[in-house]
This record gives sequence, structure tokens and C-alpha cells, in this order.
Amino acid sequence: MKLDEVKRVSVLGAGIMGHGIAQSFLMGGYPVTLYDINEQILKTARDHIEENLGLFARFGLIEERAIGPCLERLFTTCSLAECVKGGDFITEAAPELLELKQRLFAEVESLCKKDAIIASNTSSLTLADIGIKVQNRERLVTTHWFNPPHIVPTVEVVRAPWTSEETFETTYDLLVRIKKVPVKIEKEVPGFLINRIQMAMVREILDLYEQGIASAEDIDKAVKGSIGFRLASIGPLLTIDLGGLKLWLKVCQNLFPLISNSKEPPGALTRLAEKGHDGIKSGKGFYDYSNDFSKESLDEAIKKRDREFLNRLKTLYWENK
Ligand SMILES: NC(=O)c1ccc[n+]([C@@H]2O[C@H](COP(=O)([O-])OP(=O)(O)OC[C@H]3O[C@@H](n4cnc5c(N)ncnc54)[C@H](O)[C@@H]3O)[C@@H](O)[C@H]2O)c1
Repeated sequence: MKLDEVKRVSVLGAGIMGHGIAQSFLMGGYPVTLYDINEQILKTARDHIEENLGLFARFGLIEERAIGPCLERLFTTCSLAECVKGGDFITEAAPELLELKQRLFAEVESLCKKDAIIASNTSSLTLADIGIKVQNRERLVTTHWFNPPHIVPTVEVVRAPWTSEETFETTYDLLVRIKKVPVKIEKEVPGFLINRIQMAMVREILDLYEQGIASAEDIDKAVKGSIGFRLASIGPLLTIDLGGLKLWLKVCQNLFPLISNSKEPPGALTRLAEKGHDGIKSGKGFYDYSNDFSKESLDEAIKKRDREFLNRLKTLYWENK
């Protein structure tokens, strides 16, 4: 499938990721058919998309008058066949369960166009496993979006052993066309690029927390105001170049032997999770939310996050395009 042959997009699963992925394609001008297993989920997804389009307009990222046409291009259905039959680019954002995704991929192949591209948004599985029941595997690719997917620019485009060059390039170009920032991952390794980097950082952060080196508040404040501040504008390898390779080499030699190389999940995280704590969703995580713990406060925390992210999206990405 070539880029100009992609006319319709199908999104399977309308949860946290699916409705945001659908919104990105709608804003990029594509008609989108969104599938889920019940009508209520689809209604909630449409409401979220409408609300989030309003937020994009308020931040000047799309025009107010673009909202209506975007919503008119959105079709929802509880029929998988109806969702995928006209789809040229089909992307799955269903639960992270290997058997479910294997079954879904095989079923999609039996219902969709012969040359449609079928993408997975898996975070921790591989297409080498998900795609085993698919006959024509050249059309399979992973597109790994980041939450919230309608806002965070990067999407990892991952080449599985059998992904064809055309599938890989069309997928990459399609994401560019809808104003995302795709990154080519040439080999399918678990965690791809970003989750591996993020997990290396989280291992060290939780080890420092466990040792009582700093409080949760101070760890968050320090990371946001230093490496977080820097990395929002320049990448880690350019940071090394700007700082000087000799200095970075010295620091690696001094600190690598001292930082965590644990293979076990971090103690503090394990203990909290085993006690049933689930962060803001349950009222306790590394912070205590028991004074203001409700669905409304969770929704407000997500809205506050999205407003901050939209400001950054506007200044760092959209105004420079
Ligand atoms: N949440 C994240 O931060 C995040 C980030 C990147 C990737 N992902 C990946 O995206 C995928 C979806 O995650 P999510 O967080 O949106 O999950 P979610 O639970 O919010 O949404 C999944 C949706 O899939 C629907 N569903 C159930 N069975 C289905 C089926 N057979 N076919 C199609 N849809 C079905 C569910 O009803 C639900 O609405 C997972 O593979 C996950 O690993 C999630």
C-alpha cells in the first residue's frame, strides 16, 4: 500500500489510546472508523474526542471550524467487519493480551482489503508473536504511540522481521502527514527504544527513593527542572556533544559502577502495589491523594496535564513546522 492509496483509517479499541489515535487521524484529514466491543465505550470515546478537539482549538492548534468536519469523519461501530472492510490503514489499540491480539489480527486479515496495512500499538509484545496467525505478514508493522496519543508527538514505527519496505515507509510517511513525529526502529526489540530508556531511568530513580536520598517531591522537582527541562528541547546525544565527550566519559567511568543494575522490580513500587495502591486512581501512590480522591479529581489532573502538554506541543513542535 502506497501513501496516496491510504484513504480510510480503522482503529480497533476505543480506550485510552484508541480514541486519541483516532483523533490524530481525524485532525490529519482522514475518515476514521472506530471499533469497540460495546456502544457505551464508543459513545464515551466520541465525547472525549469532541472535548479534546475543543481543547486543540482553544490552544490555537486547529481552527474552531475544523471541529465539525473532524467529527463528521468519525464513524463508530461494534462490528469488526464493518470497521475494517474499507480500511486502508488499520491500527489496533486493544488490551495488551497476546492471545486476544493474535486472534484479532487473524480475524482482521480475513475481513479487510488484501493490501491494507495492519498496525499494532503493543507496548510490550512483539509482532513476531502477535502476527503468527496472519498469512500476509509483510503488511504488519508496530506503531507505538505515547499517552496521551493525540498530543505526544513521537510514534515509534517498528520493523518486524517480515515487515515490507513499502509497509514501513508508508506508515512512517502517513504519520508525518498527520503531523506526528515518527521514529524508525529498525529491529524489533522488547520495549523498543523509549520504554527501554524510560525503564533504565525509573530503575535508578526508584533505587534512590528506596535509599532515602531524596523525597518523592524533590525527585520530581529535580528531574523536571534539570534533565526534563533540557530534554524537552535537545536530545540526549546532542546534550553529550554540547557538554563535551571527555567530561561525559569521565562521569560514566565514575558513576556506572555505582548506579543500580538490579534485575528485580523496585522494592518501593512492589510494596505499594502489593498493598493495593494504584496511584491517583486509588488515592495513594508515591503521593497521598486521600484528601481529594474522586473521579472528578482524576479527570481534573488529566485535564491539567493535557493543558500543559498542549502548550509545549504548540511551542516546541507545531509552530516550528
Ligand atoms: N495506556 C498507555 O499508556 C499505553 C501507551 C502505549 C501503548 N499502549 C498499548 O495500547 C493498547 C491499548 O491500551 P489502552 O491503555 O488504550 O487500553 P484500554 O483498556 O484503555 O483500551 C482497550 C480497549 O480495547 C477494547 N477491547 C476489548 N477487547 C477488544 C477486542 N477484541 N478488539 C478490539 N478492542 C477490544 C476495550 O473495550 C477497551 O476499550 C495496549 O496494547 C497497550 O499496551 C498503551
